Amino acid sequence: MSSMRVVSIHEFGGSDVLRLESAPIPTPGEGEVLVKVHATSINPIDVKTREGSGLAGMYKDQLPVILGWDVSGVAESVGAGVTDLKEGDEVYGMPAFPALAKTYAEYVVALANQLARKPKNLSHTEAGALPLVALTAHQGLEAMNLQAGETLLVHAAAGGVGHMVVQLAKARGAKVIGTASAKNQDFLKNLGVDEIIDYMTTPFESVVKNVDAVFDCVGGEVQTRSFAVLRSGGRLVSITGKPLEELVKKHNVLPFQQLVKPGRAGLETLTQLIEAGKVKPFVSQTFGLSDVAKAHDLVGTGHVRGKVVVQVAS
Ligand SMILES: NC(=O)c1ccc[n+]([C@@H]2O[C@H](COP(=O)([O-])OP(=O)(O)OC[C@H]3O[C@@H](n4cnc5c(N)ncnc54)[C@H](OP(=O)(O)O)[C@@H]3O)[C@@H](O)[C@H]2O)c1
Repeated sequence: MSSMRVVSIHEFGGSDVLRLESAPIPTPGEGEVLVKVHATSINPIDVKTREGSGLAGMYKDQLPVILGWDVSGVAESVGAGVTDLKEGDEVYGMPAFPALAKTYAEYVVALANQLARKPKNLSHTEAGALPLVALTAHQGLEAMNLQAGETLLVHAAAGGVGHMVVQLAKARGAKVIGTASAKNQDFLKNLGVDEIIDYMTTPFESVVKNVDAVFDCVGGEVQTRSFAVLRSGGRLVSITGKPLEELVKKHNVLPFQQLVKPGRAGLETLTQLIEAGKVKPFVSQTFGLSDVAKAHDLVGTGHVRGKVVVQVAS
């Protein structure tokens, strides 16, 4: 067998541009692993890029392209120089980002040092949900250096990144305040959120004051309103763009604009927390490779709880 099923786009546009077709199975080069993909997930960046924003500018001259960054699967073969992973190992990761990882496919090639062994207590479906959102959450909390006993406000706490931030912050011993709509209040309670704000009925600044840090997964006016609830010297992690300079100065806030990076070290830290039972992904819905368009439409609503996963192999 030398060809595989992939989902590619030949142009940017609506979810109908996602096409199931066949492509040659790639060959791993030096330092690389060929992974048989069991699961990948859909992130908002996939949707934005497919629509022509997000990272589309980077790939517009490379069309057709295969999107997708998350992967959980089994090493099929390894390239020259790979000694720490071998055929048959169960692995997960978010290779290549922000370059193309091409995980909407039955096989992907990834750098070995951007993969880690899959947590033993997770299925491929769960592990495939994790890498991009969990690395984003982990790297953001590391950047702001969140400490035990501090109070963190998390915007969009029920979303892909947010539900990871909440669990990782609780594992660090922080107090967590989270925003979500009414339907997600019980979900956040079960994740261990200490104080839950229904952002549809309660402006967060009417009930939150002097927090040590904010992890913002929404951006726009939610972010500009967040400066007023931070203590002087507090930290703001933004994953949606650069925090406004004049507000940073006015409120004496330490800003962190994060873009997630691939890498094994972060994945290994996450694996330890997952295997210790401190962190678990929530998968709200799964789709097959032939239904990636439906999965994009769902993520595009901006109101998914946890993650949407594409199961590629059974
Ligand atoms: N810079 C980076 O490296 C990086 C990495 C990952 C993600 N991102 C970006 O970060 C954003 C979040 O990503 P994600 O994967 O977490 O998205 P997501 O899973 O699609 O977020 C969905 C969640 O957002 C909540 N939500 C929507 N509007 C809200 C509001 N005004 N206040 C509070 N909650 C709200 C929804 O809760 P309700 O249904 O209850 O409203 C839902 O649970 C996206 O823009 C994504 O592109 C950036």
